[in-house]
Amino acid sequence: MSKLIVNSADSSTVFQQELEELINNHRQDANLGKVATYIPELAKSNPKHLGVSIRLLSGEIVEAGDVRVPFTMQSISKVLTLALALMDHGEEYVFKRVGMEPTGDPFNSIVKLETIHPNKPLNPMINAGAIAVSSMIRGNKVEKKLERVLTFIRKLSKNSEISYNEKVAESESKTSDLNRALAYFMREHEVFEGDIEEILEFYFKHCAIEVHCLDLANIGAVFANNGQDVETGETLIPPKIARICKTFMVTCGMYNASGEFAIQAGFPAKSGVSGGILGTVPTKMGIGVLGPSLDDKGNSVAGVKLLESMSDRWNLSIF
Ligand code: DON
Repeated sequence: MSKLIVNSADSSTVFQQELEELINNHRQDANLGKVATYIPELAKSNPKHLGVSIRLLSGEIVEAGDVRVPFTMQSISKVLTLALALMDHGEEYVFKRVGMEPTGDPFNSIVKLETIHPNKPLNPMINAGAIAVSSMIRGNKVEKKLERVLTFIRKLSKNSEISYNEKVAESESKTSDLNRALAYFMREHEVFEGDIEEILEFYFKHCAIEVHCLDLANIGAVFANNGQDVETGETLIPPKIARICKTFMVTCGMYNASGEFAIQAGFPAKSGVSGGILGTVPTKMGIGVLGPSLDDKGNSVAGVKLLESMSDRWNLSIF
C-alpha cells in the first residue's frame, strides 16, 4: 500500500501513473453488468466507459480514463437537494418528513412506505425520500427550484456551464410510473402537499443535471473540506449539514450495497443509475467516477471496484 502524498511534480506523476494502472485493471469489470434501460435515454450510454477525476484538498487534479464524457447525475443529485433543503428549512422540518435510517431495499422500493409507521420515507437517498425532499426546495415554480439547485451545484463544482439534459428528463418522465406511485402514496399519507406532477418534473430535471467526472470531484472536495470552498475557504455548505450529507452517503449512498462499500472502500459515496459515483474522503479529496455498466443494485460495477482498489492502494478508509 503506498501513501498518498502529492506535494511535488514527482509524486504527482507517480499518482497519475497509479491511477491509470487502476483504470486499466478495472476496464474489463464493465462486462459484469449492464447499462440502465428503464430510462430509455440511459440505454444509449457506452457500457465500456470508465473514468475518474480526483480533486485533492491541496488543489491538484489527477484524472484517468474517459473523463470527457458527460453524464447525468441521477441519484447523486439527492445529496445536493438534501443539503439545499436543510439549508432552506433546518433539520427539524426536514427530518419530520423524511427519516434517517437505511432500508436494505432497492432504491425504488415502495414496500416500507406502507409497513413502517408513520408512513414517511426512511431516508433521503431512496427515491421516495428524495421526492419528498424535492417538495421542500424553496421556489414557487419548477423553474425557480431548478435554478436554485443549478446555482448551488455550479458553485460547488466551479463550473458555471452546468445544466440539465432535457432528453433524459423527458425520457424518465414518460416511463416513471413507479416514482408516480411513490409520490401519490406519500401525498395520501400527508408526507407532503402540492402538485405531484410539478414535484416530479423538478425531481426528473434535477436527476438529469449533466456533469463530468471533474465536476463531481470538485463537489466531493467541498464535502471533504467540511463544506468550505477548497481555494477561498468560503462556507458553501454549513459544516453540520455537510456532515449530515456525508453520513447519509456512508449509510445509504450505495443503496442496499452501502454496508459492503463501507467495508471495502470505507468513505462516503453516492451512486446514480447513469453510472456516476460521487466520492468524498474527509480532509483528503473529492472523487468523481463514471462507469455506466451497473450491477444488480444499480451501482457502477467497474466504478465500485475501482474505488475499492483506490482505497486499498492509498489507504482511504475513514474507519
Ligand atoms: O428516479 C430514478 O429512478 C432515477 N432518476 C434515479 C435513480 C438512481 O440513480 C438510483 N441509483 N443508483
